[in-house]
Amino acid sequence: MLTSNQQEIIKSTAPVLREYGTDITTRFYNLLFTNNPELLNIFNQANQKQGKQQRALANSIIAAAENIEQLEQIMPVVEQIAHKHRSIGILPEHYPLVGENLLQAIKDVLGDNATDEILNAWEAAYSIIADIFIQVEQNMYQQAEEQENGWQGYKPFYIDQIVIESDVITSFYLKPVDQKPLPTFEPGQYISVQLSIPGETYQHVRQYSLSDQPNQEYYRISIKREDENDPNGVVSNYLHHQAKEGDEVPITVPAGDFTVDLSDQQPLVLISGGVGITPMLSMLKTVTEKQPEREVTFIHAARNSDVHAFSQELSAIAKENNQVRLLTVYSDPTANDREQKLFDYEGKISLDWLKQELTSSNQVFYFCGPNTFMQTIHESLTEWGTPEDQIHFEFFGPKQELKSKTLV
Ligand SMILES: Cc1cc2nc3c(=O)[nH]c(=O)nc-3n(C[C@H](O)[C@H](O)[C@H](O)COP(=O)(O)OP(=O)(O)OC[C@H]3O[C@@H](n4cnc5c(N)ncnc54)[C@H](O)[C@@H]3O)c2cc1C
Ligand code: HEM
Repeated sequence: MLTSNQQEIIKSTAPVLREYGTDITTRFYNLLFTNNPELLNIFNQANQKQGKQQRALANSIIAAAENIEQLEQIMPVVEQIAHKHRSIGILPEHYPLVGENLLQAIKDVLGDNATDEILNAWEAAYSIIADIFIQVEQNMYQQAEEQENGWQGYKPFYIDQIVIESDVITSFYLKPVDQKPLPTFEPGQYISVQLSIPGETYQHVRQYSLSDQPNQEYYRISIKREDENDPNGVVSNYLHHQAKEGDEVPITVPAGDFTVDLSDQQPLVLISGGVGITPMLSMLKTVTEKQPEREVTFIHAARNSDVHAFSQELSAIAKENNQVRLLTVYSDPTANDREQKLFDYEGKISLDWLKQELTSSNQVFYFCGPNTFMQTIHESLTEWGTPEDQIHFEFFGPKQELKSKTLV
């Protein structure tokens, strides 16, 4: 419990911390990794370098502290972060490391302005927030392990099959080395893979959405190759160029709250850009199987057919299921795409186009794709009047802010 004086201090200093948020978390990560280099095995260094993770962490701690008297209000955000933490393997013993280095960073950045009273108040607030995360995550770990065929931490899988889906996207079918059946998952969920890549000092952990419907035999992930001329794109390039069928890949139990409610009968609109198609395809396949009466519009945007993954799989689904309407949007079609009419619309998805194609804004929307794409879709739906609780989206990285909605 915070004293009322400490609550006051938190409220009055939160704006200052927000102002210096990025400085504080940048300093914090420097300290954290200098003092605990083993943590470089679990943090995504590309996200660090681009500052995405810094902002996400700073925003969420300040938002939590500001809501410390009514933490139930931020529980949905806590749960979402906890899914990511559980998937990566963040443990209770990690929290004091973050707490100590965070306080030191506040002290370093604010200098003399950080009095003992202020630091004590933030230490107490962090400890309350950390306890909530630890509790929520403990329940998730327990559930992951105790569910039928579940497990704890990373379990060895092997690549059973590699299938090229487009010029840039390749699928990897993963099966457990122990040959046990797989636990089910909710369409839209992701796994974490942990790779030791030759020549790399640290291990790399990345999340990948499951692109097929739940089954007990394999998990399918479908990965876009990041630009190979870039020094980064470490994991996707490794998997595209070096991984072979038979190689071992340790993964965690599926996690995530970007999932479709299969008891809801409202018409569903699934919109994806590029590799954002992966969770959507899993949703589509599951809904057609489990909810054959539910209307689904599946909109996919890609540059052209060269980079359009799963086009045949999607056409087959639409052909077999009357409930599905498939719309393909190409921003830069090839001459062959035009000749063969391989797309429905040329350009980028806009509100005008959505209004033209969809009967109503009052449907349940799920979308995933590049950040600018997500921004456009979110703005369009908000302007069109779709209720906020019918808008769901997933970032393929730390959550960012979409203009009309603060996420953390
Ligand atoms: C929930 C979730 C689900 C996901 N599902 C999928 C999926 O289904 N399929 C999929 O392909 N991906 C998915 N991702 C993304 C995936 O986890 C990886 O981020 C992606 O594969 C890139 O990893 P990488 O190691 O190849 O690239 P990284 O080395 O991590 O680099 C990522 C990007 O950052 C850029 N970058 C790196 N360092 C810098 C720097 N210093 N300055 C500027 N830019 C830099 C790189 O050029 C690259 O474009 C998902 C992510 C999340 C969080
Ligand atoms: C109360 C304390 C904490 C808060 C508020 C917090 C907050 C966050 C947030 C907001 C994200 C981004 C989630 C997303 O958008 O997907 C995140 C991810 C992450 N967190 Fe935490 N976190 C806390 C503690 C910890 C601890 C103790 C560790 C381990 C030392 C940790 C490790 C990670 C890692 C590795 C990621 C993924 C990073 C990435 O992919 O770039 N966090 N956390």
